[in-house]
Amino acid sequence: LVLVVDFGAQYAQLIARRVREARVYSEIVAHHVPVADMLARKPKAIILSGGPSSVYAEGAPGIDAAIFEADVPVFGMCYGFQLMAKGLGGEVAATGAREYGRTPVAVGTPGTLLAELPAEHSVWMSHGDSVTAAPSGFEVLAATAGTPVAAFESLDRRMAGVQWHPEVLHTEHGQAVLEHFLHDIAGCRQTWTMLNIVEEQVEHIRAQVGEGRAICALSGGVDSAVAAAIVQRAIGDRLTCVYVDHGMMRQGETEQVRHDFEEVFDVLDVVDAADQFIDALAGVRDPEEKRKIIGREFIRTFEAAEARVFGDLEAGAATAYLVQGTLYPDVVESGGGAGASNIKSHHNVGGLPDDLDFELIEPLRTLFKDEVRAVGEQLGLPSTMVWRQPFPGPGLGIRIIGEVTRERLDLLRQADAIAREELTRAGLDRDIWQMPVVLLADVRSVGVQGDGRTYGHPVVLRPVTSEDAMTADWARLPYDLMERISTRITNEVAEVNRVTVDITSKPPGTIEWE
Ligand code: XMP
Repeated sequence: LVLVVDFGAQYAQLIARRVREARVYSEIVAHHVPVADMLARKPKAIILSGGPSSVYAEGAPGIDAAIFEADVPVFGMCYGFQLMAKGLGGEVAATGAREYGRTPVAVGTPGTLLAELPAEHSVWMSHGDSVTAAPSGFEVLAATAGTPVAAFESLDRRMAGVQWHPEVLHTEHGQAVLEHFLHDIAGCRQTWTMLNIVEEQVEHIRAQVGEGRAICALSGGVDSAVAAAIVQRAIGDRLTCVYVDHGMMRQGETEQVRHDFEEVFDVLDVVDAADQFIDALAGVRDPEEKRKIIGREFIRTFEAAEARVFGDLEAGAATAYLVQGTLYPDVVESGGGAGASNIKSHHNVGGLPDDLDFELIEPLRTLFKDEVRAVGEQLGLPSTMVWRQPFPGPGLGIRIIGEVTRERLDLLRQADAIAREELTRAGLDRDIWQMPVVLLADVRSVGVQGDGRTYGHPVVLRPVTSEDAMTADWARLPYDLMERISTRITNEVAEVNRVTVDITSKPPGTIEWE
């Protein structure tokens, strides 16, 4: 375990991911956690992350110097580097030499940390203060125009640091620097592999569930699929997977899910609830109201399934478990916390009622999305499942602007199928985060087709690129691809006579229109 101490500048998650890419397990810990508690977890190394730009700023977070006396390897980055310099007896000063963004760095003595790196390369900086003297016993390895001490190390103490951000993509050789620290200076073993994750989780779940039974709501998405696959490995057919078809899935999707999932999961309960959902949405145009209705109907359907699955359990004979695909970023963003929590405080499935008394199984609680995909591949799940683009729970219901009807769903499904087919054919599925197609059902415009006037609906293509859906940019699709999609949709989907492209980033737009 490597602990990444978070000084609150959003770099910690990225650092934790990079450490894991170096095959070393890492977790994030807030800087105000007492050092004794950090050490009690017996970390193999501690990384101090970036943070506010000056260690002298009012209210700037510090770290108890005891961390440097515990005989645990420490690596500091940016702000963490300055804290290290200060805490170990070096000097940090407001030299006035601010450096932001891409900065050339000159390697003097490479040492172990910068071994085999080019003498000049470019790194990402973001700092106001500078380290002006390294702590005694530390060797200075590199400098920039504005920073005489940009990197240092002490092999005796197994400590090192850099003024830059090795974790960001713009820094050349950043991963190499991090790996030199982890593998060569701290001596961390490279044991974090997808196989180990699966084996550990399987054992853990077996111990947790004993003879109990579990249920999992599959959405068709990668998180619930991988979570279910791990639980199935652990408890076999005592896991029941339920897939609710709410009638607002895309063309061929339910069949695809059924086909893919039946191959993987022994017991797949496919509930056809299309009429129930679409009837409940009759006359509703407000986006939030739609979402609430869909959420409510989902709960009803899931409760009925749950009653069927657990109905035959003798009261009190065994605990019922609910499998959830909660990921590590969800855990970090909701303030951390460890161990199994009760469904009463967790509503990931979209607001389950309070009187359901499940215990949760969350096998992905420590994983990032890319690790979930890697675990999925390790488990042999089909790549259609592992690499599926995100699709919102309420489905096409929130991509019809206006009332949701069966006819409109059919229209949108056809247009969406064409857009997806062409995107796939262009080989862009992995470059584009997702591309909703939105039907402006209450809007009509005049067009001309053949010899006649048309009066049809527009659709909007919403291609975006993103890393985590928190922010997104509109994707610059190739013109010829847009042309093919436009021509095909207007030719093949009666009622749609205009295709437009949404060129709004997030923020200010969101990815979905409702
Ligand atoms: P927005 O529209 O908020 O979407 O920018 C961010 C990401 O979340 C997806 N999304 C949902 N996923 N249930 C889901 O499971 C929902 O209710 C929901 N709403 C939006 C959206 O597709 C995008 O990937």
